[in-house]
Amino acid sequence: MTKREPLLEVRNLSIAFRMDRKTKLDAVRDLSFCVYPGETLGILGESGCGKSVTCMSILKLLPARTTIYNSGDILFEGQSLLNMPEKKLSKIRGNEISMIFQEPMTSLNPLLTVGDQLMEILRIHDPKMDKQEAYRRALEAVTDVRIPNPERILESYPFTMSGGMLQRIMIAMAMLNKPKLLICDEPTTALDVTIQAQVLDLMNRLKEESGTSIIIVTHDLGVISEMSDRVMVMYGGRKCEEGIANDVFFSPRHPYTQGLIASHPSASLDKERLPMIPGSVPSLKDMPKGCPFNNRCPYATESCGSLVPQQEELGDSHIVCCHRWKEVTPVG
Ligand SMILES: Nc1ncnc2c1ncn2[C@@H]1O[C@H](COP(=O)(O)OP(=O)(O)O)[C@@H](O)[C@H]1O
Ligand SMILES: [Mg+2]
Repeated sequence: MTKREPLLEVRNLSIAFRMDRKTKLDAVRDLSFCVYPGETLGILGESGCGKSVTCMSILKLLPARTTIYNSGDILFEGQSLLNMPEKKLSKIRGNEISMIFQEPMTSLNPLLTVGDQLMEILRIHDPKMDKQEAYRRALEAVTDVRIPNPERILESYPFTMSGGMLQRIMIAMAMLNKPKLLICDEPTTALDVTIQAQVLDLMNRLKEESGTSIIIVTHDLGVISEMSDRVMVMYGGRKCEEGIANDVFFSPRHPYTQGLIASHPSASLDKERLPMIPGSVPSLKDMPKGCPFNNRCPYATESCGSLVPQQEELGDSHIVCCHRWKEVTPVG
């Protein structure tokens, strides 16, 4: 692969939350990854692995009073987002980097029509834009996300719409200012399967048309495989495995990745050989020492409980963070 400049680079990021005067809990630990122009990076992991905290940190949306950025940095086009003055960062939010969440209703104003909300965003971005132009752009945005009857939708209030329709509006909103990076945190988790497929398809088409890079976060292997060029698997606030989607899905080398794939209903891999993952994701205060997965891992030895695994390169940008990766039976 040719060396490209990353659009986003997260470097050795560690984030903790202050719980009370004495207690701090680590939520993200020594996490590094990149997003390249035009690609979709999928972040996969069970609930509680630190995916949302990672996403929210990129735009500094975590609660300022209790969040501690212990170390590391987040660079967007080479500029530190963590050290950027709030005023400058607020120009990047929603313009260069947009975000969509699982629950669209929480990001929409129930008292305004969809059209008014879209036009407001456009006019905050460009105060000189006149009303006709803002209307034209809003109409174009809802047409782009394949909403039938777009004129009528602009006049409607959010509460009159279905979940799938709202998520399309959210995508239209997030894409309004043609961001370079779109962060989608469980964008289809609240939707039923058919609608989910339509929304994912839409996101893929928009990406093709606009060249926007996407981070898609989910606990759903099916969604990740539908969308991602590259995948990063997280556990306990750390990276377990990262690579080109095909490598991670068809030759997973981290026991956690193997377990996730094996426990997915449509896994075509040999279930006899693969352990389902026993136990559940620990809370931050019960996080084991060493490799965070060691107490659920069929391969763990004593040292896994004391030493944090470093990144091992398996070639072709496939990375695994496991002491025992050489002993882990390859699958696929
Ligand atoms: N603001 C917060 N204060 C304290 N703990 C938090 C906060 N946000 C998230 N956490 C904890 O951080 C861990 C990771 O959470 P999260 O990133 O939301 O997981 P995921 O998105 O992978 O399901 C969880 O244990 C969660 O309880
Ligand atoms: Mg989450």
